[in-house]
Amino acid sequence: MGERKISLTGIKPSGTPHIGNYLGMIKPALQLAEKYQALYFIADYHALTTLRNGAELMRLSYDLTATFLALGMDPSQVTFFRQSDIPEIFELTWALACLTGKGLLNRAHAYKASVDENLAAGNDADAGINAGLYNYPVLMSADILLYGSHVVPVGQDQKQHVEIARDIGAAFNHTFGAEVFVIPESIIEEQVAVIPGLDGRKMSKSYDNIIPIFAPPKQLRARVMQIVTDSRPPADPKNPDDDNLYNIYKFFCTPEQDAQLRQRYLLGGFGYGEVKQEFFEVLEAKFSEPRRKYEEFLARPEFLESVLMEGARKARAAGSRVIKKVRRAVGVRYDREPLIEEA
Ligand code: TRP
Repeated sequence: MGERKISLTGIKPSGTPHIGNYLGMIKPALQLAEKYQALYFIADYHALTTLRNGAELMRLSYDLTATFLALGMDPSQVTFFRQSDIPEIFELTWALACLTGKGLLNRAHAYKASVDENLAAGNDADAGINAGLYNYPVLMSADILLYGSHVVPVGQDQKQHVEIARDIGAAFNHTFGAEVFVIPESIIEEQVAVIPGLDGRKMSKSYDNIIPIFAPPKQLRARVMQIVTDSRPPADPKNPDDDNLYNIYKFFCTPEQDAQLRQRYLLGGFGYGEVKQEFFEVLEAKFSEPRRKYEEFLARPEFLESVLMEGARKARAAGSRVIKKVRRAVGVRYDREPLIEEA
């Protein structure tokens, strides 16, 4: 275990998991555990930059935990935890913030996008922007640097954040003349295709075009039937690559099934309704068991909590080695006692 490199994945909790999340993020994340010592965490404090409902944030964290467990994560083989359970993250965030150029944060994409929107609307550049959003990359750098992660697999949209973490980590090492941080590599999942939604745009909650992973069969079927296809008559041959239904279905096919499906399209003589029914059955076969487990886990919040607590224990053990080096480097007491238990 100690020999394998550490891979770190942070996931912002964001509501009903759908098959776009499954194919684009959850499945690749779970596969990492075969090659790396895998750390996964729920970035709940990152979610706080936009979410202001405590019960909802708590619920989303449990939901994500149940989702990963239901889809096959073995918590004894990996470290799955909640960001907010690691107090050292905030200590590190401050130490890093003090070495982070404000200009660097001015150039971060998410912040810049909000500023550009404001300017385009004729508002003050920083209207409605909170300091949490501005400091998002520093908190994320602390996430990445605390556990000595070697690799950070992220989508294209998060690449800049990993680069910022590398810059800040290297600046810290240089400034204090110590190898405190491992400088991680990002693994960019370019080939992870964008999964189209019901209407052909990227599958996303904000477009209301998702196929939820754990919807009960009737709802699942209804969703699949809503996939938008063209109106060519059944007899006509069709180009599979132009068809939204095919472009979703194909992710669930073996190469042989895919070849057969393509062949059928090219020959024509079938209706989209048939293919939808088939696709529904494929999804049902794949997800009915995980769905049952998901429901079971959700009904046991105390169990989910125990999984998260055990994950936090492991993560803190890994993080404490690094935070001690940080404290020693900056010149604060590094061997301090844990907080005294409340009376
Ligand atoms: N910012 C990431 C996202 O929005 C989530 C995240 C937070 C993260 N901290 C991280 C990802 C550390 C990788 C590493 O998706």
